[in-house]
Amino acid sequence: MSNATPYSPGRARPRRLRKNQIVRDLVAETHISPSQFIVPHFVLGAKNAKKAIPSMPGISELGIENLVKTVEADLKIGIRSVLLFGHPDDATHKTPDGKAAWDKKGAVQRAVSRLKREFGDNLVVMTDVCLCAYTDHGHCGIVEKEYVLNDASLRPLIRTALSHAEAGADVVAPSDMMDGRVAAIRDGLDQSGHENVILLAYAVKYASGYYGPFRDAADSAPDKGDRQSYQMDPRNVLEALREAALDEQEGADMLMVKPALAYLDVIQTIRNASALPLAAYNVSGEYAAVKAAAANGWLDEAQVVRENLMAIRRAGADQIITYHARDAIKGKWL
Ligand code: PBG
Ligand code: ZN
Repeated sequence: MSNATPYSPGRARPRRLRKNQIVRDLVAETHISPSQFIVPHFVLGAKNAKKAIPSMPGISELGIENLVKTVEADLKIGIRSVLLFGHPDDATHKTPDGKAAWDKKGAVQRAVSRLKREFGDNLVVMTDVCLCAYTDHGHCGIVEKEYVLNDASLRPLIRTALSHAEAGADVVAPSDMMDGRVAAIRDGLDQSGHENVILLAYAVKYASGYYGPFRDAADSAPDKGDRQSYQMDPRNVLEALREAALDEQEGADMLMVKPALAYLDVIQTIRNASALPLAAYNVSGEYAAVKAAAANGWLDEAQVVRENLMAIRRAGADQIITYHARDAIKGKWL
C-alpha cells in the first residue's frame, strides 16, 4: 500500500490554529469572566439554617449568617453579583395575595440589607420579584376562578419590588410575566425615590419543565393548573421579540432570557434586536440534569459545564445566571 496523499487540502488548513493550547487561547472567540456571573441564592429566615436541596447537589438554602459566609467566599473568587429568592419558612404564612412577599421583615428583605451593610458596593444584590413562593395557591399572581389576573397582580408586585428597594437592593428582577409589570414597577420605584434601582426584566420566560428543582427548593409549585397562561409557549420566538420590545419600552434596564440552553436561538435573536444588556438564566433543571449525569459517570462535568456556559455566551448573553459558577471558577473549567 502506498502512503501517497489521496487528497491535499491545499493552502487553507484550519487545524494550524488548533496546534496547541496557547494558539487555541490566542484565537478563542468566546470568553467568560467571573464578573459576568450572577449566582442565585435561596434565603431562609432562621439565621443559621442550612438545608440541602436534594435535586440540586451542591446547592443549599441558607440562613442569613450562612449566606454572608458563602457570599464572602464567592467574592474572593470574583463572583460579585447575587440573585436572591425566598419563601416563608412556615407554609401557613402563605395567603391568596402572597402578602409575605413584601414583608419588611421577610428573609429576603433582611438578607438584602445585611449583605449591603456587610459588602457595600463590592457586591451587586439582585432580588427576584414574584409572588409564587408566597401565595397559598403557588401562582405568580392573584387568582380568581382559576385564572391568574393580570392587572390585579401588579399592585402586590410593585409592593414587593419596593420592599426590596427599601432594603437596599441594587437590582429588582420581576419574574412573574404579567403584562405591564415593568412599567408599573418602574413607576412605583421612581415615585418613591428609587429612580436609581436597576430593573432586570425576566422579559422572555418560557413555561418550562426545567424549573422543577427550583420549585421544590422555593416551595413554589402551583397547586392547580400550570403557568402556561402567563409564561411563554416554547414554540415561539417572534413572541420573544415582542416581549423584549415591550419590556424595553416600559423601562427595563436589562433583559433576560430563561431558560438558557434549550433557547440559545432566542438569546441570539434578542441579542441582535436590542441594545440592552442581556442575561440568560441557566436554570435549576439544566443544572440538575448535568449534575445527575456527572454523578453517574455518564458525562464529564467540567467539560460539559464549560461547553454549556460557552454556548450561552456564544449565543450572545452578556451575563449568565448559573448555579455552576463557583465550581466552574474553582475548578478552572473556563
Ligand atoms: C419564580 C421563578 C422561577 C424561577 C425563577 N423565578 C420558577 C417558576 O417560574 O416556576 C426558576 C429558576 C430556576 O429554575 O432555576 N417565578
Ligand atoms: Zn413566580
